Amino acid sequence: MSSQAIFTDWNDTHSALWSHQPLRLQHRLHQMPAFSKEALAELIDRYPRDQYGLVHMGAAGQRRFWREGEIGNMPGAGVIDAIEKGRMWLNLRNVDTVDARYRAVLDAMFTELAERVPGFEPPEYTCGILISSPSAQVYYHCDLPGQHLWQIIGRKRVYVYPASAPFVTPQNLEDIALFDVEVDMPYAPWYDEHAQVLDLAPGQMLSWPLNAPHRVENLDCLNVSMTVSFNDESIRRLGKVNLANGILRHRFGYQPKSRAITGPSYWSKLLLQKAMRNTSWVKRERSIRRMVDFRLDAEAPGEIVELKVAA
Ligand SMILES: [Fe+2]
Repeated sequence: MSSQAIFTDWNDTHSALWSHQPLRLQHRLHQMPAFSKEALAELIDRYPRDQYGLVHMGAAGQRRFWREGEIGNMPGAGVIDAIEKGRMWLNLRNVDTVDARYRAVLDAMFTELAERVPGFEPPEYTCGILISSPSAQVYYHCDLPGQHLWQIIGRKRVYVYPASAPFVTPQNLEDIALFDVEVDMPYAPWYDEHAQVLDLAPGQMLSWPLNAPHRVENLDCLNVSMTVSFNDESIRRLGKVNLANGILRHRFGYQPKSRAITGPSYWSKLLLQKAMRNTSWVKRERSIRRMVDFRLDAEAPGEIVELKVAA
């Protein structure tokens, strides 16, 4: 491995543990010019609207709420300033398709991983940059693709739970696949006794097993992180089975019994989800769970302006 390796403290135990256990590793992304605050502000200035999500988290201690919004005319540096003073987060999705610098980092990362972890060569991967307020939280959820989290600026605490019941059930995964919303998973405070709790500082990343639930608490500072998602054939097939099983359960009242990703049950579910996934029923079920209803106020950093939402 060259001296320009992305992982800076990798050893053989990490190769054995990767994707089986939560792993916190050292990296050098935070030292790259593309991840400076100035470069990120400039990136926000030209970010396509359909590729970002701005979410307001509600005041500290309030019952959680979740609203999507837009940036309006505020320049990128002002957006970062508003996030630093407020309680929200900005997710720049698919950064690797918007700017080639991030694609190059991602390609180098996965080339390096393929050398370090025999057999780990997902053919599909993407990344997003998450800019979030001091003390903001990402609530308990899990993701269908493989994921890791790279800390660039600020510090956060990540709770990673076992990827098994009762922390995550097949029905939870179906609901995520069907409704396209990850934050409705049941959670109880006692789950934390079974979590690994890992603090991340700039230059650290966290990897966890597929579908392991997690939640994140920012410490008292602006946070910039990069989320990396990846898919391979078996993750892709599981996604289709989760979607088909969710359709069977919610649309047809049938209790799915198998999560097989080969054989006759898989192939019939492949057809079912293909036939159903673009129907008006699926679209309606998804759209009622997502709305855009605020934008940032350029006059008062940290404040939000309510937008009227068509019913
Ligand atoms: Fe996540």
